[in-house]
Amino acid sequence: MKSDSRTSEREDATTEPILALSNVVRRYETGGETVVALDHVSFDARSGGFVSVMGPSGSGKSTMLNLLGLLDTPDEGQVLLDGRDVTGLDDEARTAERKRSIGFVFQSFFLLPTLTAVENVELPTLFGTDPTRRERAVDLLERVGLGDRLDHRPAELSGGQKQRVAIARALVNEPRLVLADEPTGNLDRETGATILDEFRRIADEQNVAVVAVTHDPQLSDYVDRTVELVDGQVR
Ligand SMILES: Nc1ncnc2c1ncn2[C@@H]1O[C@H](COP(=O)(O)OP(=O)(O)O)[C@@H](O)[C@H]1O
Ligand SMILES: [Mg+2]
Repeated sequence: MKSDSRTSEREDATTEPILALSNVVRRYETGGETVVALDHVSFDARSGGFVSVMGPSGSGKSTMLNLLGLLDTPDEGQVLLDGRDVTGLDDEARTAERKRSIGFVFQSFFLLPTLTAVENVELPTLFGTDPTRRERAVDLLERVGLGDRLDHRPAELSGGQKQRVAIARALVNEPRLVLADEPTGNLDRETGATILDEFRRIADEQNVAVVAVTHDPQLSDYVDRTVELVDGQVR
């Protein structure tokens, strides 16, 4: 599966991007100094596309993921969700949009140690009243190959299994965009490959847009395109 044969045609370029950054600038002020973490960056995520964002430490990757995840707002430029400008929304409205559309997978998994795998996957739905949530959680864990680990707690799972629980959890509210920060960062190469297969499958079969921020060159074998960040700019 080399990158030449996996073309950007997999991304549905005919539809509007799910999420887009248009000329965004994000600055941080610390101790009287200004750091320009993102310097006029434009980017979009489309259905069925798996995109990696690469760059050295400090290049602005996490800042970009936070903007894509509606966890943060830019100082300049716009954030567009389904073509709608959501830049100026207040926290509450932004959170509602985020819950409706976006799932997150983090490097350190963030699973609750006292809950079983299936309970961890159900967690993002617990404040709703959806009676099918257990069924959905089981279904998702089966899909990521953990049907026989439903009642295991995180301490009883390997790193790769924990990451797959985290992926299942990110999918439980049926997001159209999945954002991952260093999803293979804590995994050996082979386990990382199974996780990347999983992201590729989510993009191909469920038409989800996946954006992964990473140092891992292995991702280039799986993604439709790579965006390179250097000093807050897309190269
Ligand atoms: N909360 C913050 N306050 C001040 N500076 C920050 C903050 N977050 C990030 N930065 C700075 O912004 C730049 C980009 O950081 P970040 O987005 O975390 O990069 P990466 O994820 O690529 O390592 C770095 O110079 C970093 O020091
Ligand atoms: Mg980072």
